[in-house]
Amino acid sequence: MADFWQMVEFSHILMTRHIQSGATVIDATAGNGHDSLLLANLVGDGGRVYAFDIQEKALSNTEKLLAEHKVLHRVELIKDGHQNLNQYIKKEIDGMIFNLGYLPGGDKEVITNKESTIEALEKGLGLLKKDGIITLVVYTGHPGGKEELSAILEYVASLDPHIYNVLNYRFVNQQTAPQILAIIRRH
Ligand SMILES: C[S@@+](CC[C@H](N)C(=O)[O-])C[C@H]1O[C@@H](n2cnc3c(N)ncnc32)[C@H](O)[C@@H]1O
Repeated sequence: MADFWQMVEFSHILMTRHIQSGATVIDATAGNGHDSLLLANLVGDGGRVYAFDIQEKALSNTEKLLAEHKVLHRVELIKDGHQNLNQYIKKEIDGMIFNLGYLPGGDKEVITNKESTIEALEKGLGLLKKDGIITLVVYTGHPGGKEELSAILEYVASLDPHIYNVLNYRFVNQQTAPQILAIIRRH
């Protein structure tokens, strides 16, 4: 059963509600491939997932997981920063997922940062269709995490409410737990 208490799972619930077969979506942080796998299953053979990561290890872990589940052909793996997404994707997107921080089981020094995250988010918003969704799972327990969260919060709080709905889903009694930001394009 869906677990509303797990942030990653909650982001998957939101994606599952919005992303349909044939969709074009971006996994901004491929990591170990769990989000790419979800997206590949949602878009089906007629859809496309673009998955970015700057680490070879992350892309090979993602490739392996997708191949095991026989959905690798639905995903384009891109070894580049998500802030460069406009060099690879020229069409509109139905959704985008960010899972920020460091690669679990990998080098904890290689982390997402507020500048490139916001640049990627801005570019993703520029491609997002009406009723499209972007989710960000943001962690604050590692160095730089709190700064990344507050920069993202400040940025998304400034988005035009006539165009976007922005949700902040968080535990109010756990200061270092991950949080979700979800943006829906209304118009
Ligand atoms: C928390 S992990 C992602 C977890 C992943 N979504 C999963 O399902 O396993 C964060 C990933 O972001 C990657 N990353 C860091 N900076 C990046 C950037 N500028 N562009 C793309 N990926 C980046 C890291 O290499 C790391 O693999």
